[in-house]
Amino acid sequence: MYNCIRQIVPGFFMLLYLVYAQECNITVYDNLSEKVKIADCSKRDFSEVPQSLPRDITVLDLSGNKFRHISNYSFENYSLLLNLSLAKNKLHIIEEHAFYGLSRLKFLNMADNILNLRYVYTPEMFLPLQNLINLDIRRNIPNQPTVDVYHYPDQAFVVLKKLEYLALDMAPNPIFGIGFQGLNYLKSLTFEFCF
Ligand SMILES: *[C@@H]1O[C@H](CO)[C@@H](O)[C@H](O)[C@H]1NC(C)=O
Ligand SMILES: *[C@@H]1O[C@H](CO)[C@@H](O)[C@H](O)[C@H]1NC(C)=O
Ligand SMILES: *[C@@H]1O[C@H](CO)[C@@H](O)[C@H](O)[C@H]1NC(C)=O
Ligand SMILES: *[C@@H]1O[C@H](CO)[C@@H](O)[C@H](O)[C@H]1NC(C)=O
Ligand SMILES: *[C@@H]1O[C@H](CO)[C@@H](O)[C@H](O)[C@H]1NC(C)=O
Repeated sequence: MYNCIRQIVPGFFMLLYLVYAQECNITVYDNLSEKVKIADCSKRDFSEVPQSLPRDITVLDLSGNKFRHISNYSFENYSLLLNLSLAKNKLHIIEEHAFYGLSRLKFLNMADNILNLRYVYTPEMFLPLQNLINLDIRRNIPNQPTVDVYHYPDQAFVVLKKLEYLALDMAPNPIFGIGFQGLNYLKSLTFEFCF
């Protein structure tokens, strides 16, 4: 199936393609100044990152699938990504080199998973994400959290030099490390109380 729709929109010129490929919907907006290529792979029972998508996608929506873990180098062939959503999965493990290659990524959404703040985030994990602006990891604490002291993984976050927006869960007994002071561009820190 391949459709090509051309439309003139006041103020800018837009080409819109809809391609049904690999169970994901690919949409391209050629907006003269920049190309936006969206792979909508949401709610499709994926448990691994599909590898046969176009390599030049800039937005990848993997929300509402069945991911439990993200393997090393899963996104190495999608290096133009600006937006990545892994929200609403069952993610609890992210391998250390999972985000390898995503040096342009600006938005990462991993809200509504079961990523444990104490164990998942290693200092190396976010190293490739040198241009990340917005990280959302809210609603990852299960309903019955233990009352242990939570050391927030500040050493994982501090490598995100461009981070402006960080949204995460408020743990019962939080300890904030010195790494938070290294987030020089942070404009907004949002805590969600989820219990
Ligand atoms: C893909 O996009 C088309 C056109 O917008 C839509 O009709 C179709 O439902 C989409 N497919 C899926 C699986 O979302
Ligand atoms: C096209 O690009 C302009 C300028 O970068 C932006 O304001 C606009 O929202 C874009 N439109 C679409 C449909 O992506
Ligand atoms: C992923 O990379 C890390 C760091 O190199 C390594 O320790 C781990 O074993 C790798 N995972 C797999 C499944 O190979
Ligand atoms: C990325 O593409 C290269 C070359 O086609 C391939 O060897 C590699 O396995 C791909 N990576 C993944 C994670 O599939
Ligand atoms: C990228 O993600 C952000 C935050 O979710 C959203 O506001 C923005 O519209 C997204 N951009 C595209 C092109 O999907």
